[in-house]
Amino acid sequence: MSDDPEEGMLSWDESVFRDEHVFEIDYVPETFKHRETQLESLKYALRPAVRGSRPLNTVVRGPPGTGKTTAIQKLFGELGTHTEVRTVRVNCQVDSTRYAVFSSLFEGIFEYEPPSSGISFKKLFNQVTDHLVEEDEVLVVALDDVNYLFYENEASDTLYSLLRAHEAHSGAKIGVIVVSSDLSLTIMEELDSRVQSVFRPEEVYFPTYDVGEIVDILRERIERGFHRDVIGSRELDRVAELTADSGDLRVGIDLLRRAGLRAEMRGSKTVSVEDVESAYDKSKYVHLSRSLRGLTDSEGALVEVLAEHDGEQAGSVYEAFHERTDLGYTRYSEIINKLEQLGVVETEYADVEGRGRSRSISLAYDPEAVMDRL
Ligand SMILES: Nc1ncnc2c1ncn2[C@@H]1O[C@H](COP(=O)(O)OP(=O)(O)OP(=O)(O)O)[C@@H](O)[C@H]1O
Ligand SMILES: [Mg+2]
Repeated sequence: MSDDPEEGMLSWDESVFRDEHVFEIDYVPETFKHRETQLESLKYALRPAVRGSRPLNTVVRGPPGTGKTTAIQKLFGELGTHTEVRTVRVNCQVDSTRYAVFSSLFEGIFEYEPPSSGISFKKLFNQVTDHLVEEDEVLVVALDDVNYLFYENEASDTLYSLLRAHEAHSGAKIGVIVVSSDLSLTIMEELDSRVQSVFRPEEVYFPTYDVGEIVDILRERIERGFHRDVIGSRELDRVAELTADSGDLRVGIDLLRRAGLRAEMRGSKTVSVEDVESAYDKSKYVHLSRSLRGLTDSEGALVEVLAEHDGEQAGSVYEAFHERTDLGYTRYSEIINKLEQLGVVETEYADVEGRGRSRSISLAYDPEAVMDRL
């Protein structure tokens, strides 16, 4: 035991963090463990591209936070050294229409945005494919979070244009990687038959990490992010357990950062299990935050209405929604469906006395937690 009462306490200009940046959402990790087989399968599908041929199309599936986007970033980083291959990752949560996807491809290829005055889809498409043919480049497109294209009913048109590009423009070589974290979405079945007939993708699955793998991955983050001995193995084990419960590695990364901040707030040089437990109250909502971030104004308005009318009948929720936004019932149902697929709301059919069957709608999370993050 030390006699110094200040031992173990942080002075005001000290930090538990060596590099807090490694816990940020867009940080791409240096090492990428426990995804060797998935990377091999993806490389196999992409290999033709470096030989100047069209790569195999691929569907990547797996629950949230299992490394799908990171795998694409790693592979695209490696492919970037081949000048005859162009890679573009489209974030479909942001670009959720065929036009937006092609705008994003245009920008990825030409390195400037298409004219904002608005050009027709056909022009946009032709400029992209012309460039590929003239420069003899192969384009690899990752439609990341493709489930959003399905929610907006844009998936078939988008894929059709990409997959048939070589027919519209002979010599255009485009390969597509479709990435989905919505396991309830059966991609092939949801596509039009005209797309099904030309889409025979390879499949790569990303399972959730088990506790041992999570410990292994997070230990590396800890070494880079924290000073030595800030987190002990007991604390790391607890973080890994909580992360495994949710299945989303983001929970663990967010948990480490918040627990570190809590330790600092107490002026402590080390993170305690209590810091981890209290940080979890916030970190368990990382998935909710991500789902809410991508919502449009009217979708957000409906979530707000639901927070006030949680668990009420579809009809009365609609009335409140209509009053606020002036939008009609069709749009209302579409948004409810999208929110349900995102796991933000739950709907339940029940018998209502004297009125037959009716649907009640409730938030899948504590309304207060939802409002805090909207
Ligand atoms: N094997 C790994 N090694 C290091 N970090 C990882 C690993 N797998 C995932 N991560 C980290 O976990 C977080 C989530 O990973 P990623 O974004 O790739 O998941 P995802 O499968 O794309 O999730 P979603 O479906 O929700 O988009 C990222 O911060 C990423 O850096
Ligand atoms: Mg992702």
